[in-house]
Amino acid sequence: LRHRRPIIAIDGPAGAGKSTVTRRVAQSLNLLHLDTGAMYRAVAWLVMRSGISLDDEGAIAELVTQANLELIPAEPPNPTRVKINGEDVTETIRTPEVTAIVSQIAAKASVRQALVQQQQRYGKTGGIVAEGRDIGTAVFPDAELKIFLTASVEERAKRRWQDFKEQGREEISLEQLEQDIQARDYFDSHREIAPLQQAIDAIKIDTDKLSIEEVTEQIINLYEQLDSKA
Ligand code: DC
Repeated sequence: LRHRRPIIAIDGPAGAGKSTVTRRVAQSLNLLHLDTGAMYRAVAWLVMRSGISLDDEGAIAELVTQANLELIPAEPPNPTRVKINGEDVTETIRTPEVTAIVSQIAAKASVRQALVQQQQRYGKTGGIVAEGRDIGTAVFPDAELKIFLTASVEERAKRRWQDFKEQGREEISLEQLEQDIQARDYFDSHREIAPLQQAIDAIKIDTDKLSIEEVTEQIINLYEQLDSKA
């Protein structure tokens, strides 16, 4: 007999479609959506706003341990609201300025320790789908279903570019986005603590030629097979 509701872990590099897919899976299976990238982004935003140097480990550790980070679920399909120290940063954490420094922030031991602890509290009773880089390997190594979403760099850059275009931001070139994605992947995969890595028991889904609907459906099918195996 299960002691908790299942946990789905969705990991993968930037731009593989994790956020959209995770939101849809959460909505259709009635699970809590935990966007761990948003948590690292909120801390990066706070560091930037505080004017602390990215090399000042001590000050960053103090800032993160004292920060009050809140995730407020919104009515789907709206994204979860993110607040840090009372300030709503849901939109600002997606700006290129935050994106440019978030990998460096996410590589710090003090930051990971604080955020992983909070993530594990959210998952205590299960019933969540969490997305990030280290969910299946470090945050919830005993997750019932682990998915590793990937896509080629070209495809991921193209998707980001489309997103930006829809927001009326046409100043960012496709080449620039490809470079940014490659740099962030490299950094996230080569850091010392909990690097981006496919868990050995994760199911890999290459999304290059799949629609959002197809990927979502595959994950829901896999989740439903869990039930019949229990
Ligand atoms: O998924 P995202 O682009 O919002 O993630 C932002 C950054 O946070 C990304 O560069 C890697 C980091 N991250 C992480 O190290 N661990 C996670 N579980 C989630 C994100």
